[in-house]
Amino acid sequence: MERTFLAIKPDGVQRALVGEIIRRLETKGFTLVGLKLVNVSRELAEQHYGVHKERPFFPSLVDFITSGPVVAMVWEGEGVIASARKLIGATNPLNAEPGTIRGDLGINVGRNLIHGSDAPETATYEIGLWFKDEELVSWQPTI
Ligand code: CMP
Repeated sequence: MERTFLAIKPDGVQRALVGEIIRRLETKGFTLVGLKLVNVSRELAEQHYGVHKERPFFPSLVDFITSGPVVAMVWEGEGVIASARKLIGATNPLNAEPGTIRGDLGINVGRNLIHGSDAPETATYEIGLWFKDEELVSWQPTI
C-alpha cells in the first residue's frame, strides 16, 4: 500500500492545529502508521529541503522548520501521496482552495502549516530520512 510523509510544521503546532489537521486526514480514511514530535536539527532540515538549497528562501525555511517542534507522520492508503497533497492545498495558502488545510487555516507561504511528499520517490526518501523502520507500525483497520 502507498505511503507518504507529512509533517505539521512549527506554526501548526504553535497554533494548536495538530488535532484539526490529523482529524482531516483520519476522516478522509487514510491510515496513520508513524507519528512523532521532533525538534528538527539543521542537518535534518537541510537534507529534507535539499532540493530547495539554491532558492533565496532556503535559509529562512531551515530557520523556520528548526524553530520549534514538528509533528512527523507517515500515512498509508490508496493514492495517498496525491490525495494528501489535494487535502493540503496549494503551497501558498493565499492560492489554496477553501476546503483544503492551507486554504482554510493558513495565509502565509512561509507558514503554510504542513508539508507533504510530492511524488513516490520523494515519499520514500523522506520516510527514510525521518523514520527508522521499527518506528512504523503496519496495521489494517478491521471495522
Ligand atoms: P513545503 O511544502 O514544505 O515545501 C517547501 C517549502 O518552501 C514550502 O512548503 C513553503 O513553506 C516554502 N516556500 C516556498 N516558497 C517560498 C517563498 N517564496 N518564501 C518562503 N518560503 C517558501
